[in-house]
Amino acid sequence: PAVARAYHENVINHYENPRNVGKMNKDDPDVGTGIVGAPACGDVMKLQIRVNDDGTVKEAVFKTFGCGSAIASSSFATEWVRGKTLEECSTIKNTDISSQLKLPPVKMHCSMLAEDAIKAAIKDLAEKRRLKEGASQQQ
Ligand code: FES
Ligand code: FES
Repeated sequence: PAVARAYHENVINHYENPRNVGKMNKDDPDVGTGIVGAPACGDVMKLQIRVNDDGTVKEAVFKTFGCGSAIASSSFATEWVRGKTLEECSTIKNTDISSQLKLPPVKMHCSMLAEDAIKAAIKDLAEKRRLKEGASQQQ
């Protein structure tokens, strides 16, 4: 069908078999949660990462209320961050995601959602850790 041909098989694969759909306890000290919305269309993506003691990402999960490209982007992102350091994760660009998935130009903002969600999850984790450090210093 014409619709399917407009999309690369990588997108269709991640859309039809999304990896790592789920949720983690956002109060877990090792979990960072990022929730972002796309101004262009109102779609929402939630992405969570869990880090190992060495600071690398152990696993990531997502829940996306949005279009197929946003679902594919978040599915792809959860696989890509695994094993990476937070620093490496923070350098992931939406263009890395869109070029892997071969997203068409009108769907670029869907991959931007994934980049923003990763950054938001890292920030959430960093803030949690800062709070924790502050608390232990007060003891
Ligand atoms: Fe409809 Fe994104 S604009 S799902
Ligand atoms: Fe808006 Fe995909 S996230 S159309």
